[in-house]
Amino acid sequence: MFATLLILILGSTDILATDYILLVEDPDIYTPCTDGPPGSVGLNEAFDVSEMQVEMDEEGIHVSGNITTRWSLPPTYRISARMSVLHFNRGNWEPTVFNTLTPDFCDAMFNPNLFWYKYWFKNFENREEIQEKCLATQGTVLVYNPFVVVPRLNNVLGPTLKGRYKVVFLFEAFNEQDERQPSSVCFEITGDAEKIKN
Ligand SMILES: *[C@@H]1O[C@H](CO)[C@@H](O)[C@H](O)[C@H]1NC(C)=O
Repeated sequence: MFATLLILILGSTDILATDYILLVEDPDIYTPCTDGPPGSVGLNEAFDVSEMQVEMDEEGIHVSGNITTRWSLPPTYRISARMSVLHFNRGNWEPTVFNTLTPDFCDAMFNPNLFWYKYWFKNFENREEIQEKCLATQGTVLVYNPFVVVPRLNNVLGPTLKGRYKVVFLFEAFNEQDERQPSSVCFEITGDAEKIKN
């Protein structure tokens, strides 16, 4: 489910050229960051995803169920969210133009103009509760309205997507003095971009 969201993130720019799908390498879809900040935890440590169902068929990826927050921060902390797409080239992960930083995630997660909402948060049923508790109130259940994601992405006008990519998600916490805290969540999805049209 996160995979699909990432895939779509790649297509979140409006200038479209070619359609791609991202063939995700790991059956678990998202994996802990190989190069995350010290002390960061992966998605499965930060959230209990055992009640989320993800099934793939010819229509796409069907997501339903819910996820429960394990991550715990004082409510006064700010959470920033960074999404970066890296391309594997000659043995190294290199940055691409697909990057975004949302300094106050809790304030932005239901903003209909941002991809967090378009490809992920619009599918949550208990929006009011999530709005109030955000991502780091332990025990919050984020309930999905079942949805289907077609794992297809539209390339922006620009370099052709080719080869191995990963999308890295990093959520970081800042205290009232705006000091970065060691508690962070980092996960990534790795796959091969494959052209399907044009
Ligand atoms: C969470 O998902 C499970 C499995 O689909 C379901 O049994 C449970 O009722 C759900 N909980 C909430 C609060 O929606």
